[in-house]
Amino acid sequence: MPANPDRTTPPAAVLQALSLPRFREPSTSGPITVAIEGPNGAGKTTLCRALSRTLGFPWCLGTDEAWFAEPLKVRMIRDAEWYASAMFFLSGCFEQTRALRTRPDRLIIMDRCLWSTLAVHAAVQFDRLEALIAMVQPIARQIQVPRLTIVLEASFDTCQSRIANKSGTARALDELTATPAFHSREREFYHWLSRQTPAVTFVDADVATADEVVHKTLDLFKTRLPEIVGT
Ligand SMILES: Nc1ncnc2c1ncn2[C@@H]1O[C@H](COP(=O)(O)OP(=O)(O)OP(=O)(O)O)[C@@H](O)[C@H]1O
Ligand SMILES: [Mg+2]
Repeated sequence: MPANPDRTTPPAAVLQALSLPRFREPSTSGPITVAIEGPNGAGKTTLCRALSRTLGFPWCLGTDEAWFAEPLKVRMIRDAEWYASAMFFLSGCFEQTRALRTRPDRLIIMDRCLWSTLAVHAAVQFDRLEALIAMVQPIARQIQVPRLTIVLEASFDTCQSRIANKSGTARALDELTATPAFHSREREFYHWLSRQTPAVTFVDADVATADEVVHKTLDLFKTRLPEIVGT
């Protein structure tokens, strides 16, 4: 993630011309994964915990925890070249997906996934998304993406107020991208993504209490995964 995410105004045309590669077909064995996505502070971790409690399925980070060991994580977010950072976090997502494949659970809820890495780089400059798509294209048929991705939508101000009590390194890393322009481009990325695949959908988490967000998400689970979460 760069120190100055606002230095370019991205041409929307870049995004319009891009298409997502064809990823691996959903596996018939192993758990179904559902990812919760969205900007910093939208309420992803809160929702993952609540869904896990309510549904009785586990939740985990979309990136293998070993990748979050400080100071490596800080270096990769704050200092590394953007493409090194992207490759690092994508590899952590791919490794997490492999590790989850042998779990006995029917469903696993993931806090973020590979889409987050694409989102933060697209939000800096849409050209980066073009480069990342070209990079994963040759291996896309081996990459398992979540069966369903639920993107929490909340305004920049709401997200900022929700993360206001973060401190230390977590706050400092968030501040690298805490601008309305970054937030709005990240949102544009998620909408582009949802036009590419029906497996990506949205929940409005802006003026909703945490409980209301849980209820809206459970309704989505019932519609989209009736075999797992019955009505
Ligand atoms: N719907 C909501 N309404 C009000 N506050 C909320 C809501 N959802 C979460 N919060 C609060 O906002 C803060 C940030 O929530 P949370 O950590 O779940 O966000 P996040 O999306 O996981 O953030 P990050 O991107 O930093 O990991 C927490 O203090 C949480 O209690
Ligand atoms: Mg979180």
